[in-house]
Formats: sequence, structure tokens, C-alpha cells
Amino acid sequence: MKDIYILGIETSCDETSVSIVKNGCDEITTVVLSQMDTHSNYGGVVPEIASRMHVENITMVIEECLEKSSLTMDDIDAISVTYGPGLIGCLLIGVLAATTLSYIYNKPLIPVHHIAGHIYANNLVSEMKFPLIALVISGGHTELIYMSDHYSFKKIGGTLDDAVGECYDKVARVIGVPYPGGPMVDRLSYKGKDTYPLPLPLDDNTYNFSFSGIKSAVINLVHNELQRGNEIRKEDIACSFQNRVVEVLSKKTMKALKEYNVKNLIIAGGVSANSGIRDKFTSLCEANGINLTIPNIKYCTDNAAMIASAGYFAYKKKIISGYDLKACANTSLFE
Ligand code: KG4
Ligand code: ZN
Repeated sequence: MKDIYILGIETSCDETSVSIVKNGCDEITTVVLSQMDTHSNYGGVVPEIASRMHVENITMVIEECLEKSSLTMDDIDAISVTYGPGLIGCLLIGVLAATTLSYIYNKPLIPVHHIAGHIYANNLVSEMKFPLIALVISGGHTELIYMSDHYSFKKIGGTLDDAVGECYDKVARVIGVPYPGGPMVDRLSYKGKDTYPLPLPLDDNTYNFSFSGIKSAVINLVHNELQRGNEIRKEDIACSFQNRVVEVLSKKTMKALKEYNVKNLIIAGGVSANSGIRDKFTSLCEANGINLTIPNIKYCTDNAAMIASAGYFAYKKKIISGYDLKACANTSLFE
């Protein structure tokens, strides 16, 4: 069978990324230009600056990717791009670049939902086996998804309020840890002890999550301690917080695997880089005979390899867009 090469483009937030992936699993080349250093001066991503930087960099990143791959546009079968969700100005740049390439070189244009991309980062590690449960944990999403086959997404639960990554970033800010908060809280948690009595978030029988309560608990804790003139022990807050998050995520995910009688689990999204989560799920899955896949750290956060991998499976399903493809800041993966 002929090999299929997909060129993927991802610009939904603060990474300008272009990648070429063969057959949805073999990464040929990926270029990621992170804007993190710029945004860290502001304590978070500034949308207007992010989109301007995408405009400045996108052509260069496409050229660099092609050059490093030693391929030309003639070798590319289709162009896939994140059309949403994300920052609208940022998405527009990627969609415009992809549409232009598709038009000029006469290649099919494949729209990829950002979360489908995160899920398919796992296909770059090992071939996804079905049925599977996907735990999606990112800055904007916290969802449990059932997949009976490629490109079939059935939501079985999700957050009722904040996403887990959003909560990590907020907790980081409250305890005075610089941006990017999530990875710093993760690191700090290993230096502390679980001494603070934070609540286990939404400890019920559903597959839903809620992180606003634990976020408020951390905010109140910090304010109370400071008002009393006490020093806050950042490491201990980080450790207590992370333990609660890991506990609720693992408890509900393991329950879903059992109830849906599924032996394959994949974890996706930026927060899957979290070492507490990786360690806990690795040992739980080993003990319960579950086949676990988590992306390599560099593919946990936003990148175009995952968009090219998802793009391959969308292409196979003939999910192809016209040149009028719209960027969507909010769009659901589910029907
Ligand atoms: O998937 P992603 O790159 O962007 C979205 O699609 O949202 O995820 C970014 C999120 C941020 O909230 C960041 O703090 C979090 O992932 N994150 C982490 C870790 N690394 C990234 N959260 C906890 N522990 C980490 N090691
Ligand atoms: Zn993402």
C-alpha cells in the first residue's frame, strides 16, 4: 500500500508547529516554535501577541519542516490543521496557512479538532487498540472519552467547571509560582508533604469532574495563612493538591475502564506530562492488566505531529474540508 504523508499545522495557542507524519504513526519531522519565553513576561498567554507571533513565524516554520524532512510538497498527500478550539486569532493563522497550501498545491485540506490531535499523539507511541478509554487532561479540557474505533468519540464524562490544567495554573499563581504553572507545581510537589486537608474534588459515582472547589480551597487556605501571619509551605500545598487531583482522576478512570470492560487506556493533553499522573496510572494499569499509553513528554503539550497523525485517520474517513474552512474558538468533538 502506498505510504501517506500528512503535513500538519498547529497554532491554536502559543506554539507555532508544523510536522510531517507518515501513515499516522511515523513522525518524519516536527518543528515547534514555542512563544513561552515571551508570554512568561506577562504571567500567561497574551492572545494578541500570540497571533502576531504566529503570523511572523508560520512561513518559516513550514519551510524549516520541509527542509529538515528532505521532502517537497509533491511528496505530501494532504494538509491537516487545527481549526479549533483555541484562541481565535491564533487558529486563523494556521487555518489560513493550511488553506493556502492546500489551494496552491492542490492537496486535500483536513480539519482536525485540537482534542482529537491530543488523543492521536498516542498513535505516535504505539498503534491505538480499540475499544479504548481516553482521559483528556489539558489547559482547556478534562474529559473521559470512549472510542470503539478510529475517529469515533463518545464522551462519558467531563468537567463541570474548570479544566484540570487551568486549575494547576491558578494554584501556581496563588502560591506564587511563575508561569508556566502546571509543570512547576508538579516539580514542587515532590519536595513537599501531603499535610494540607484539601477536599477530594467531586468524589461521587459519576464520570464528571469539578476542580473549582479545590481551587477555591487553595485560595482560601493561602489567604487565611497569610492573614494569620503564617508562612505558606508551597511544597506542601503543591503535594497535597497534586495528590488529590491524581486520586480523583485515577479513581474515575479506573472505574470507567471496569464498567465499560475496556483494557486499553490512553492519556492525552498537556497535563499528561504530569509525573504524579504518569506514575500513578503506570502502577495502577500494571496491577489491573490495562494496556496504558501516554505520549512522550514533548508530545503531551501542543505540537503538529499529533495534528498530522489525527489528520491521517480523518483523511481515511474522508473528512475533507473546502477552502471555506472556518477557525472556531469553541467547537465540540462530540456530535
Ligand atoms: O494541551 P496543552 O498544551 O494546551 C491546551 O490544549 O490546553 O496543555 C497546557 C496545560 C497547561 O495548563 C499546563 O499548565 C499544563 O497543561 N501542564 C501541566 C504539566 N505540564 C503542562 N500540568 C501539570 N503538570 C505538568 N507537568
Ligand atoms: Zn492542547
